[in-house]
Amino acid sequence: MSVRSFDERKPVIGILTIHDGRKQFRGNRKNFRDIVKTGKELDIPVFVVTAKDLKLSGNQILGYTFVPETKHWVEQWFPIPDVIYNRIPLRKEEEKASVRRKIEECLAHPHIHIYNPFYFNKWELFAWLKKSPSTKSFVPATKRLTGYKALASMIQSYPSLYLKPESGKAGKGIMKLRLVDHERSPLQLTIQSPRKITVVKSASLQTIWRRISMEMGKTQYIVQEGIELVSHAQRQFDLRVLVQKTGKGQWLVTGIGARQAGRRRITTHVPQGGTVEDPEELLSLVFGREAIPGLMNRVKSNALLIARQIERASGHNLGEMSLDLGVDMNGSVWFFEANAKPMKFDEPHIRRKSLERIFQYSQYLFKQSKNA
Ligand SMILES: Nc1ncnc2c1ncn2[C@@H]1O[C@H](COP(=O)(O)OP(=O)(O)O)[C@@H](O)[C@H]1O
Ligand SMILES: [Mg+2]
Repeated sequence: MSVRSFDERKPVIGILTIHDGRKQFRGNRKNFRDIVKTGKELDIPVFVVTAKDLKLSGNQILGYTFVPETKHWVEQWFPIPDVIYNRIPLRKEEEKASVRRKIEECLAHPHIHIYNPFYFNKWELFAWLKKSPSTKSFVPATKRLTGYKALASMIQSYPSLYLKPESGKAGKGIMKLRLVDHERSPLQLTIQSPRKITVVKSASLQTIWRRISMEMGKTQYIVQEGIELVSHAQRQFDLRVLVQKTGKGQWLVTGIGARQAGRRRITTHVPQGGTVEDPEELLSLVFGREAIPGLMNRVKSNALLIARQIERASGHNLGEMSLDLGVDMNGSVWFFEANAKPMKFDEPHIRRKSLERIFQYSQYLFKQSKNA
């Protein structure tokens, strides 16, 4: 490392993940590789550190860096990081007492900044957004699916419902229940798994409920008003918005992608047959070209309202999140979920900017005094 004057001091960044007995550490290696590469380009030291190795009391810690020549991750000693970028890949791991203790230690530390301390919980997110007049209109009606009664009252109010695991991801375990008028079996339950779609039809909500509880097992679910999303060629689509803090510590939209559901699918996830699309193209097919600048600006400003409210209500400093937003035929924006550990965006222009912002925000954090 070169000698720098005080003003040019740069943070040391640790990407936090968890240990793996066989392959050193877990997490999306391609993502970590891109971050390390960007760090080299920006001349900001960055390495991967596992929660197990994150010991803040010494002068040095063990971490991993990627060596492009050999394409290997090698273990070496690094200085204690100034900023810890939390990329623990599984909620379950983050909830373990030993890992939580490490995160709490970073939160309480006099100078170390931790960037994105915890995963979000879907139910909590809805409660947070409903608390604020600026965001409550984005939240579809939602209840905890505690039993038959909760389902019965929701289907009376809404002819289409989404049933989702409270801590789900990638569309796993999502079901849709529709009440279709003038049919012999008006209740239609769609169960989606990566391989197949199962549709169960019945006239009895009791029968449907038995099937739903079987699918749910012991998993906590929520039941939500189904939003009629915009669609093209009979495939609905929604938006993935990446929101990050900048080098000035302000929230900005880094990019917006669109995901279009596979044929007959009830969610837009790529592993479920969804495709990556250009949001402006798709939206202009629905609303016309003239409507796009106004609509996109509204999506962006709504996304920022949502990000700010989530941060405020969470009680923590957050640096980035991705939002799953829907748009209905009236052009209204709906919130489905926020992810505290955004997945890699495949769109190259979004990807590039998102990597740079991780460093710009880390630099901002580094310049802040923690107790300010
Ligand atoms: N209430 C709803 N109305 C319409 N579509 C929905 C609703 N909830 C979810 N979806 C569809 O399912 C997708 C996944 O929902 P989400 O809550 O993000 O679950 P996951 O955590 O599995 O990603 C959304 O991106 C959207 O396409
Ligand atoms: Mg989602």
